Amino acid sequence: MLDPCRKMLSRATKTFACGLVFAAAHAGQAQAAEPIAAVIARDFQAAAAQYRTLLAKVQDRPGFPRTVDGGALVTVGPKDWTAGFFPGSLWYLFEATGDQRWKTAAVRYTAQTAPAKFDKSQHDLGFMLGSGYGNGYRLTNDPAYRDALLAGATTLITRFNPKVGAIQSWDLWPNSTWKFPVIVDNMMNLELLMWAARAANEPRYREIAIAHADTTLRNHFRPDDSSYHLVDYDPQTGAVRARVTVQGFADASSWARGQAWGLYGYTMMYRETRKPEYLAQARRIAAFFMDHPRLPPDAIPYWDFDDSAIPNAPRDASAAAITSSALLELAGFVDAASAARYRAFAERQLRSLSSSDYLAAPGDNGGFLLKHATGHKPAGKEIDVPLNYADYYFLEALLRLRATLPAR
Ligand code: GLY
Repeated sequence: MLDPCRKMLSRATKTFACGLVFAAAHAGQAQAAEPIAAVIARDFQAAAAQYRTLLAKVQDRPGFPRTVDGGALVTVGPKDWTAGFFPGSLWYLFEATGDQRWKTAAVRYTAQTAPAKFDKSQHDLGFMLGSGYGNGYRLTNDPAYRDALLAGATTLITRFNPKVGAIQSWDLWPNSTWKFPVIVDNMMNLELLMWAARAANEPRYREIAIAHADTTLRNHFRPDDSSYHLVDYDPQTGAVRARVTVQGFADASSWARGQAWGLYGYTMMYRETRKPEYLAQARRIAAFFMDHPRLPPDAIPYWDFDDSAIPNAPRDASAAAITSSALLELAGFVDAASAARYRAFAERQLRSLSSSDYLAAPGDNGGFLLKHATGHKPAGKEIDVPLNYADYYFLEALLRLRATLPAR
């Protein structure tokens, strides 16, 4: 979202440093009936039609569309962790189409996420502000967007504990025994800090992001390179107290979206720091995901790789969308053979998501684009539904893939 290379890419200036190489960009295309450029164009047309529907639905009510529950649209307020994805998708539609109407809508909904700037009660400010304000700043250079992002970064680092070397994810829940919970998802919020360090020339943001990534690298991963969802720390000593799950099938299981957040997070941190251990971790997570024996043939994972109900378990299209976007970036940092493999896998996922199995029929799915995402299965919430962040990372991945194609 805040990747400085994206502007160059959107001007079709493709360099190795920016993470995308032409070589083997079309791996996997030979067997496919529909050229990938046509798939992408069709997807953006479908996205525009769906999001016109979604915009019309929210026109006269407050909030941001998040999902559908029992056929009814669910909207959330500006302090929900998913609030920024709707304006973020509107910015991606503007980027994809150049149609000013998307910009007008994106500006309107980005402004509505402003209360997140000063919300010290959660770690998700990278998602909440980066998706709307981050893309808005990248595409418009509006200085007010820069100010909003810097305010959010300043708020986010108030949750950093130097003893632990990490940013606390959630405030303590009533009756929980945790003392300092950190979830793997939190890797995603570091992009805001890396951007802020550059924008404000303030190394503290970068130091905190690197400390957090290093601590997560030490404590979140298992010998098979899968990750725990939540590590709880002692805030006085920094010692690990527990490794558990909240959104996965079991403490020791591999929640699909958690693996996707880790993959995306370490790829992004490698882009920002060039620390080889981050690239190595991203590659290990990629291998875990891509080679998993319980990954279905269409490459869209079950919501958790270890659900005992597999093959009768729900999928998570959001995990696939995040993974495909991350792999397209990761492909720019590795040798040609690995790059071809990552791109081919990402393209396979995107072709699946672009099929009628996952892509909504016009006017269906409450106006969202993708079907079959899973938000919080253990809580019985958002199972096999559309989710705004599945759409957001799908659109991002399509833009990333489109940028690798020869100009027409
Ligand atoms: N915490 C973000 C997620 O549900 O993936």
